[in-house]
Amino acid sequence: MTSSLWLSLSLSLVLLNQFPVNAAPNLVCFYDSRGYERQGLAQFTMTDMQLALQFCTHLIYGYAGVNADNFELQSINKRLDFEQRHLAQVAQLKESYPHIKFLLSVGGDADTNEGNQYIHLLESGQQGHKRFIESARDIVRRFNFDGLDLAFQLPRNKPRKVHGDVGSAWKSFKKFFTGDFIVDQDSETHKAQMTGLIRDLSAAFQQNNLLVSLTVLPNVNSSWYYDAPSIANSLDFINLGTFDFLTPERNPEEADFSAPLYEAFGQNRLGHYNVNFQMEHWLLQRVPANKLNIGIATYGRAWKMTKDSGDSGDPVVHSTEGPATAGAQSKKAGLLNWAEICQLMPNPSNRNAQGPNAPVKRVLDPTKRYGSYAFRPADDNGDHGLWISYDDPDSASSKAQYARVKNLGGVALFDITQDDFRGQCTNDRFPMLRAIKYRLL
Ligand SMILES: *[C@@H]1O[C@H](CO)[C@@H](O)[C@H](O)[C@H]1NC(C)=O
Repeated sequence: MTSSLWLSLSLSLVLLNQFPVNAAPNLVCFYDSRGYERQGLAQFTMTDMQLALQFCTHLIYGYAGVNADNFELQSINKRLDFEQRHLAQVAQLKESYPHIKFLLSVGGDADTNEGNQYIHLLESGQQGHKRFIESARDIVRRFNFDGLDLAFQLPRNKPRKVHGDVGSAWKSFKKFFTGDFIVDQDSETHKAQMTGLIRDLSAAFQQNNLLVSLTVLPNVNSSWYYDAPSIANSLDFINLGTFDFLTPERNPEEADFSAPLYEAFGQNRLGHYNVNFQMEHWLLQRVPANKLNIGIATYGRAWKMTKDSGDSGDPVVHSTEGPATAGAQSKKAGLLNWAEICQLMPNPSNRNAQGPNAPVKRVLDPTKRYGSYAFRPADDNGDHGLWISYDDPDSASSKAQYARVKNLGGVALFDITQDDFRGQCTNDRFPMLRAIKYRLL
């Protein structure tokens, strides 16, 4: 062997030692326990959970809340969590899946009071922080979870109309105050308080070998609340809620891609409403890539198209009328789970269907940058118009690929109860979860 070959061989060994090959990427499975309480086809059982778990590296149980009076972590569904022993039942799965980490998540938009208690908790000083930390540690240990996930409900970016009108002074005045500007005058203070809380929490949890993760909810502006370099060391991983950038509730009058991977140019869109921007925001502050997980939603966002929206379906779609009717399974206006979206696609059984069951037209994204959408223009009476932005197994797989290429920690899926867990669409159970897993392997 020549000496130069030796040299490069030993050099690569040194490099390998310095940069250990990443462990298998994360697939963080969020489990919203409300799925367990849904009825009919939407009911998610423990058997479904077990099938999902074979793909997950982490299972995050959602959600606990914060008591507005004393800042203790508390159950927000005592009947399910305690009386029906669901927390214990889920934690028990650890025995069969010892390689999976189980965390309890607090917040996640499931807590009431629109989250004021989270701001108050931040402001509550050492005393309040201590009560939160100790109560959280108690409950995590009592139920034998491996750690806590902080999915705090903090003030959101104000939605802005995609098409900013330029015109009268009144219009620009209005635009300023409905714009994506200041929603929290004290965000700098809150950010510093957040750093303190996370550091103390992490120190306390480390004593018991417990994990702490952070989940940034959609439209919570990371620049305002999270001092990335100061908190990264205290966190085991960070899930970015990189979806729901636009929703029919926030943006009732126009529809656009709700979770694009990259910035869609033109039409005065906001540059930070995409996965890549959000990820770069953390990476540029030198947060280790392998701590960051991309959030992917298993549901799509559905707007009502009107006659005035036209029939091309090209986003940005104007003159929409807020959230489309709830799905039979999702039971939530403007939201359809992947199984529901999939069944609206043209197929033999809906070929001649009319009205709300008429098939939608599917528009794929060959660039894999923005995601797919599907739509059905309003009929002559102005009814049954629908425009849906969603991730399907293919686009979810592109996002997982992005996570691979950037050496990120992996993917966080929100959530497993809204995937097509029965295989209603193609007989493939958990198609989103599977597609992501296979791309992360
Ligand atoms: C936070 O909001 C500001 C102002 O709208 C924006 O410029 C910035 O990019 C946002 N930060 C992130 C991480 O989205």
